[in-house]
Amino acid sequence: MTFTPRAFPPGFRFGAATAAYQIEGAAFEDGRTASIWDEFSRVPGAVINADNGDVACDHYHRYRDDVALMKDMGLDTYRFSVSWARVRPGGGAVNPKGVDFYKRLVDELRDAGIRPWLTLYHWDLPQALEELGGWTVRETSDRFTEYALDLHDALGDRITDWTTLNEPWCSSFLSYTAGIHAPGRYSVRDGVLAAHHLLLGHGQVVRELRARDASLDLGITLNLTVAEPVDPESPADVDAARRIDGQFNRWFLDPVFRGEYPADAIEDIRAVDAGAIDALEAAVHDGDLAAIAQPLDVLGVNYYHGEFVGGQPDPNAPAPGDAPTSRRAESPYPSHTGIHWHERGLERTVMNWEVDPGGLTTLLERVWTEYAQPVGTALYVTENGAAYDDEPVVEDGVVRVHDTERTAFLRTHLEAIIDAADAGVDVRGYFYWSLLDNFEWAWGYEKRFGIVWVDYDTQERALKDSALDYRQIIADRAIDV
Ligand code: NOJ
Repeated sequence: MTFTPRAFPPGFRFGAATAAYQIEGAAFEDGRTASIWDEFSRVPGAVINADNGDVACDHYHRYRDDVALMKDMGLDTYRFSVSWARVRPGGGAVNPKGVDFYKRLVDELRDAGIRPWLTLYHWDLPQALEELGGWTVRETSDRFTEYALDLHDALGDRITDWTTLNEPWCSSFLSYTAGIHAPGRYSVRDGVLAAHHLLLGHGQVVRELRARDASLDLGITLNLTVAEPVDPESPADVDAARRIDGQFNRWFLDPVFRGEYPADAIEDIRAVDAGAIDALEAAVHDGDLAAIAQPLDVLGVNYYHGEFVGGQPDPNAPAPGDAPTSRRAESPYPSHTGIHWHERGLERTVMNWEVDPGGLTTLLERVWTEYAQPVGTALYVTENGAAYDDEPVVEDGVVRVHDTERTAFLRTHLEAIIDAADAGVDVRGYFYWSLLDNFEWAWGYEKRFGIVWVDYDTQERALKDSALDYRQIIADRAIDV
């Protein structure tokens, strides 16, 4: 058998990603106070097995070992998030001990030759701010800006890559409307308000950081998808795909890149809850949309799977599988009303998500052409990964995980990125989700996405086969196909 190496673009960055609440543990140490996830994970039925992030991967204490693993794999970038409740407990004054943790982490990374990529908000709002209204109130955008500037004071000299928000669709609609993520509210109004104030916070932070230091690379990470109608000739199916695109993609891309909310998606929501749109219109002050539409250096694309949707149910289709179904049933989330996911025979991960690497190429090409290229914003795949039922085995005294499906997933998605680059897309890096097995939100520890196995009883780590394969790909800067 002969292989053809396909090379990555020069300068392409290879990394892995994590998020504070999912890995750090040390939930109440060194002055950290509760976040909405500490609170929500204690609500009966909210998280499978009643898991929480109290200990997680104990990364707060083991970060040196984790950086050593990254170095061993040859990662050149590590994307992580900061716990707001550690840095500003209760959303209030700066906690030097909290800031120190991130300084130590970042110094350790830099000493290992790994570039830190910091995400300011990966869903763990201080609970004290939630009690003042959370993201449904405008003040939270201002608190977010203050927190970002504090962090920049502390770390601005050590970090170039700053991301404001991770997946604001999740921290708004999935959290405030669908009730599946913290804070677990079920309100269309609260979802649209949260999305607006998250975006406003993003715009304010970009504007302030840019004014402080023009050399920073500033961006946002969105969870984007590719919606395909079951029958492209069926108006109902085409409309289902349009609605998914409106609520997941354009609701965020349009304000960020064009300074406007998509008119059709506004009407979709108005049809479900007119009062929610009235509340949004009242919440959008003059100048907000201009503030949101700051020029960006980077758009982070998180891609996991596409959507194959129609206007009628498919009796053979499993639910899309992004949450414990008990909470989904309560959800008034508009995209779950009258939109039906269909089966198209693709392999699925244990999240029940389709494996569709071609969708990543399609998505990158579309986002590049329609949004990023016209304004010169570079693309990075800031997350992509898969959960499988890994089984560790001990061979010659060494823990091994033969995760062939994840290895194939990683390879086919990396190849999809090369396809996009070959088609002219300026895509500059890939960060596998996740470095470590970790707390998968409402799914608890049951779903393992890591390229590093974590034994939660002993906190021992082991590189899975996918990590070994990734290490070789990084060393070759090419993939054999
Ligand atoms: C996206 C989120 O950013 C991350 O926190 C989550 O664990 C992965 N998707 C997998 O669901």
